[in-house]
Amino acid sequence: MKIIVAEDAAGMARAAASCIANRIRAKPDLRVAWCTGRTVIPVYNELRALHAEGVVSFDQVRCFDIDEYAGLPSDHPSSFRRFIMDRLLGPVGARPENIRLLDGSRSDWQEECREFEAEIEAAGGIDLLLNGVGTNGHLGFNEPGTSFASRTRLVELTEETRLGQLPFFPSLDDVPRYALTRGITEIIQARSILIMASGVSKAPILARAFLGPVTEEVPCSVLQRYPDLTLVLDAEAGAPLLTKEARDA
Ligand code: GLP
Repeated sequence: MKIIVAEDAAGMARAAASCIANRIRAKPDLRVAWCTGRTVIPVYNELRALHAEGVVSFDQVRCFDIDEYAGLPSDHPSSFRRFIMDRLLGPVGARPENIRLLDGSRSDWQEECREFEAEIEAAGGIDLLLNGVGTNGHLGFNEPGTSFASRTRLVELTEETRLGQLPFFPSLDDVPRYALTRGITEIIQARSILIMASGVSKAPILARAFLGPVTEEVPCSVLQRYPDLTLVLDAEAGAPLLTKEARDA
């Protein structure tokens, strides 16, 4: 596991964006699973800036994602599709034919999950998967207690996760109760994974996930066994991983 700890959230964003841009420069048709959430907003801002400066091109990048609300129209302003398209893939000119994001608006969700995974497989699998960490340790929308053998499917969101999504909706009632998520099985098939976190609120779960036991109660902890993992954190989130006291606690 490689851990990069930046001074603050802006530094975390620069470090993460630079890792991602370097990977794309090394393999212009990189197959990326993009993610959503507050943590990644400054990272996508930095990537847009790097693109505008001509440092990185998204012309050939193959774009997928990890999760999506179920039951929202795919162009709903709070959908993950809109998040990823509006904040990154649209502005950097990723090609529509290279973009396949989960469609949570389909009622035949089993078919959607099957097709989505078949398309990733046909593309050759994910080279780089990005994700944040839920305060309860969820990975994608795989909530605590999810089997490490879980597959891409429809899930019910916990109250804590729905509260975490509140900034993107007018009220808690508007936050969907269900979502599609890639399973832990599929997430850890990626060739490399980059996890981003910032702020003091993420410190306790990072300590549990990466210093505690590997357990289905903390879905992220499965990544301790994962061979090519990079954590990009800010000082607040990363503090427990860097202090011996916390390790001994
Ligand atoms: C959502 C997404 C996760 C993401 C998490 C982090 O729950 N489904 O994939 O990792 O948000 O959210 P935030 O960055 O807002 O804390």
